[in-house]
Amino acid sequence: MSDSLSEEAVKIAYLDGLSSPEKEAIWEAQLRQYLPNLEFVSLLDEAAINADVALVWKPPAGRLAKLKSLKVILSLGQGVDHLFCDPALPTDIPICRIIDPHMSVAMGHWVISCLIDHLRYGPAYRMQQQQHIWQGHDQIDHRGIQVGIYGIGAIGSEVAKMVASLGFSVSGWSRSQKAIADITCYSGRDGFQDMLSNCDYHVCLLPLTEETSGLFDASSFAAMKDSAYFINGGRGGHVQEADLLTAIQSGQISGAALDVFQTEPLPVDDPLWDEPRISIFPHVAAQTEPHTAVRQIAHAIADVLDGKGPANQVTAARGY
Ligand code: NAP
Ligand code: GLV
Repeated sequence: MSDSLSEEAVKIAYLDGLSSPEKEAIWEAQLRQYLPNLEFVSLLDEAAINADVALVWKPPAGRLAKLKSLKVILSLGQGVDHLFCDPALPTDIPICRIIDPHMSVAMGHWVISCLIDHLRYGPAYRMQQQQHIWQGHDQIDHRGIQVGIYGIGAIGSEVAKMVASLGFSVSGWSRSQKAIADITCYSGRDGFQDMLSNCDYHVCLLPLTEETSGLFDASSFAAMKDSAYFINGGRGGHVQEADLLTAIQSGQISGAALDVFQTEPLPVDDPLWDEPRISIFPHVAAQTEPHTAVRQIAHAIADVLDGKGPANQVTAARGY
């Protein structure tokens, strides 16, 4: 780590999505191990106006553009759609995201738990338990099951490998063509259509961009098998939620597990809550952990102060 860190005070403007003072205190304490001379302020405080660094999740639109000394914007998560939705986002300084293998594993666990729960009739048996019904359903041979992962980047490629290691046949879809051992890789619109029609489980782990917004709509669900199950750990904006509900309620697909929604928190009167074939999670599939992510955040700050390009920069033109 740079020597300049111990000499220079670095001002960090912080905002997390939870407005949690406890979380903020954890981040400050963890970062202080690497940057003893730091000043931590809330992004929304007047004192943030001359901050060097923004460490943020869902900053209010226009706020970052007001910080005239800003040298780097650091996303508190792997996704950056919460930044790019701000039309005034400064794009002339580096914008970095977290890439944490610990989060990929967490997402893998969540995806696998949803997949296996559905494969082993979890929702059906829980319903039967409520009605005291003792009735078994035939076990399915998992070796014939096709799992499609849409988005095989930092998270999706690891999730694909974890699912394949359980003996499922796994396909992955990306913007550029990939080659990953044991994964059948697709790209482009034709690849998307192939995965829609061939897979039994559809797992969305894409970033939300102009190109991927609303990708899973009535026509996508119509192209899937009627036994298909949809798992979304990407973003709510990838899905036309009304089309998903119709597809499930009309028997076009069998159900869904959703961690992300167009509106979060999911409004209490949203019809998705009441559909028993949908499992709802409150955006918890892969959470940022300060203790596993702090090192890369500190390194990014050190690199910027040293005039070097920090790692994990995103490309403004493509939105991820
Ligand atoms: P990443 O490393 O940037 O990977 C994104 C993948 O999506 C890449 O394979 C990329 O293709 C592909 N992609 C992007 N645009 C595409 C398009 N138009 N057509 C086809 N493929 C496209 O992102 P990541 O770190 O894996 O994270 C993915 C997303 O997961 C995040 O953006 C966030 O929305 C979500 N996430 C959710 C949680 C949660 O708790 N629910 C936690 C963390 C992240 P290329 O490889 O060709 O670039
Ligand atoms: C969470 O959703 C993330 O993008 O890290």
